[in-house]
Amino acid sequence: MNKVTIHTLKKQKTAGQKICMVTAYDATFARILDDAGADVLLVGDSLGMVVQGNDSTLPVTMDQMVYHSKAVSRGAKRAHVVGDLPFMSYQNSVEEAVRNAGRLVSEGGVGSVKLEGGAEFSQTIERIVRASIPVMGHLGLTPQSVHKMGGYVVQGRDEQTARRLLEDAVALEAAGCYAVVLEGVPLELAKQITARLSIPTIGIGAGKHCDGQVLVCYDLLGLNPDFKPKFVKRYADLFTGITQAAQSFFTEVRAETFPDTDHSFHSTSIRLVASNPDVETTEPEEKSAVYGVPV
Ligand code: KIV
Repeated sequence: MNKVTIHTLKKQKTAGQKICMVTAYDATFARILDDAGADVLLVGDSLGMVVQGNDSTLPVTMDQMVYHSKAVSRGAKRAHVVGDLPFMSYQNSVEEAVRNAGRLVSEGGVGSVKLEGGAEFSQTIERIVRASIPVMGHLGLTPQSVHKMGGYVVQGRDEQTARRLLEDAVALEAAGCYAVVLEGVPLELAKQITARLSIPTIGIGAGKHCDGQVLVCYDLLGLNPDFKPKFVKRYADLFTGITQAAQSFFTEVRAETFPDTDHSFHSTSIRLVASNPDVETTEPEEKSAVYGVPV
């Protein structure tokens, strides 16, 4: 099994093989999504919304990103892991940006970092790349700029903003980005940017012409029935699946049909305890090799 690297992704663009990226926030999901064939796992700061329950990504901290990156990196075997630089971890100064990117790599174990923004971050990107940390750009509907955008609105719909986004994409490539996420932009613009760049574009709400696609894993798995944006396709209904599984557990507990004898531990020493009150303990239980829990 060959580990996916930033060079693999470049080759995929050249060969016309679409790049599959998905978010992951913990080791269990990372393992499942990696086994399923993800090329890239993104530890997105969207965790601020889907994991933490905030209404934006803005409260996410560096320490939280390091924590989740560590977990995802442990679960991923083949996929390239990208860690998001959270809000205000790279905007203050180039030095702080390099330090925080370094933390995601050295402490979080990621293979590259992602940051939101255009040409205004060229110098920051150059310096992070010079520190041997690959950078993925992120343009269009950039959630960390929610207040500036006045909401989560599609970007680049008119001639002027579309031209600006194209220029930003060119600037990101020149600064050294190895790929760029295009979020919430018209398909026609994403097509032009993709044709213009030699680095891969990865779209979310940007149409089919990008070199790859990314979705938030909770969205594609259908974990939130209240979130139905146009660009999300649900490939499963795990909200219903999880609800039904939990309800079955509660029903069996209330009916006293769980745990049955198959799911209970047994001891031949118990009779001994009952007949000899001086014996206080039973044999030590065997431990499972995997979780260290009794088997
Ligand atoms: O944080 C995130 O999940 C992202 C993707 C939506 C691209 O940035």
